[in-house]
Amino acid sequence: MTQKSEFRVEKRHILHSSIFNQTLRDWQGLQCELSAKNFMYPVFIVEDDNAVQPINSMPGISRFGINKLKNHLEPLVSKGLRSVLLFGVIDNLPKDDCALNADSPNNPVIKSLPKLKTWFPNLTIACDVCLCPYSSHGHCGILFSDGTLNNEASLERISDVALSYGKAGADIVAPSDMMDGRIGAIKEKLIQHKLGNKVAVLSYTAKFASNFYGPFRDAAKSKPAFGDRRCYQLPPTSANLAIRAAERDVFEGADMLMVKPVMAYMDILKTIKDKYPQYPMFVYQVSGEYAMICKAAQEGTFNLESGLMEILMSLRRAGADVIITYFTPLILDLLNPKH
Ligand code: PBG
Ligand code: ZN
Repeated sequence: MTQKSEFRVEKRHILHSSIFNQTLRDWQGLQCELSAKNFMYPVFIVEDDNAVQPINSMPGISRFGINKLKNHLEPLVSKGLRSVLLFGVIDNLPKDDCALNADSPNNPVIKSLPKLKTWFPNLTIACDVCLCPYSSHGHCGILFSDGTLNNEASLERISDVALSYGKAGADIVAPSDMMDGRIGAIKEKLIQHKLGNKVAVLSYTAKFASNFYGPFRDAAKSKPAFGDRRCYQLPPTSANLAIRAAERDVFEGADMLMVKPVMAYMDILKTIKDKYPQYPMFVYQVSGEYAMICKAAQEGTFNLESGLMEILMSLRRAGADVIITYFTPLILDLLNPKH
């Protein structure tokens, strides 16, 4: 075959020679590798120790009482599960203005922490810190009587809750409330109580006011009773505020940063990781993203396992170190085909 020289492929532009077998293809994407270390599994814990409550809006996901959670986690830990993110959900305990049950002795997370630490000594336990699952108004902070946020009172309460989780055995506290100054307030309180070097702070740094939290709010029974969260969660349009949020959280001493949700915010993920490569970068593939992927696969739009792997690798490519995902049990199976 003859070819005009100007159309000939230059030697250095031959791409196929870099990808003709699997090992060569692997070398092109080592930064996208996935192992159990890259995952954190969110779980919902309820008051009734023996309950298993399937969540309709999240296929395959249930809320668990602590005894049932033990059975659920055991095989996952033996498949390499490294970390979990705990959310408490209450039904019978009262909800009030100050979210007193966020850290009362009856709180399901407070009660579960010592047990989980005993049963799974090598599992790193993070606790979501927020008031919305426990407040009567369902907002993430303390409110003034006109319904606007009292930031100062919120910081006091949120940092107390974080300290309580730390004292009860949490390795990581992860404030998702989005109050201004929460990272500094929490760090200060942990240091005052000699937990400064025993509890890490994972900041929900760039948490956007998103459509993708719907199923979670069912799961955690944390829907706001009025209004929405747009005065404290970031506007989906604002990359600039996300950067300022990251600058602030780094300044206040966050140990790890997060972007949430992730698929609609991959640019933010990459920008923050590029700006702060020194910090482990977390992303939260949230409830709506989970449900969307499940439904698409159910409809036959793509194969669940291979579609999911493509998405996970794209998150690694964009800069995610740790992926918080409800798919963690399935992923552990995909990573350990022998089990
Ligand atoms: C509560 C909280 C939310 C999520 C994590 N913590 C919901 C919200 O802010 O309304 C979302 C998690 C998910 O959708 O999977 N502050
Ligand atoms: Zn909240």
